[in-house]
Amino acid sequence: MSITPPSQRIWWKEPIHKIEATWIIIALAWCLVLFLWMPYWHVYGKQNLSNESYKTTPAAFEAKAKAMVDKYTVRKETKEDIPVVAPPVGSDVYLVGRLWSWWPILELEKDKSYRIHISSLDYQHGFSLQPTNMNLQILPGYETVITLTPNQKGDFGIVCNEYCGIGHHNMLGKIIVK
Ligand code: CUA
Repeated sequence: MSITPPSQRIWWKEPIHKIEATWIIIALAWCLVLFLWMPYWHVYGKQNLSNESYKTTPAAFEAKAKAMVDKYTVRKETKEDIPVVAPPVGSDVYLVGRLWSWWPILELEKDKSYRIHISSLDYQHGFSLQPTNMNLQILPGYETVITLTPNQKGDFGIVCNEYCGIGHHNMLGKIIVK
């Protein structure tokens, strides 16, 4: 029992005004359009890629990356002697982000697919592949996984796009597509 009950106790049975009904229909139709737009845009919109993520630890991730680097390093590049790794087509590939580098350099084949796992060993970093529009937030404790099929040959730079301290602007990496 409310303090001031409506005078018409079956107020909800009153006929809806035409204008109100029209607006309800317009709002409902628009809701449906937006609802269907979400899956449509996920598939057909040229938006940022979707990824999977799994829990890990920095130590476990580093161990997996090291095992891959030990097995598939083909040469070293840059004055810091960063290993260039050519992993088998279709394999799981690991990329480490940490203060302040992306490690190792990856050498992939054009039109072949790879499972790229990316994680951080310390703080939050941002994986941004240049010049493509590919951005991923990289967090310690989580491995972010994408299925990557490079469709263009060349050298692609990786920059960090989450501020991570004094060396942030030097946090660069590379993916080579042959
Ligand atoms: Cu890593 Cu900014």
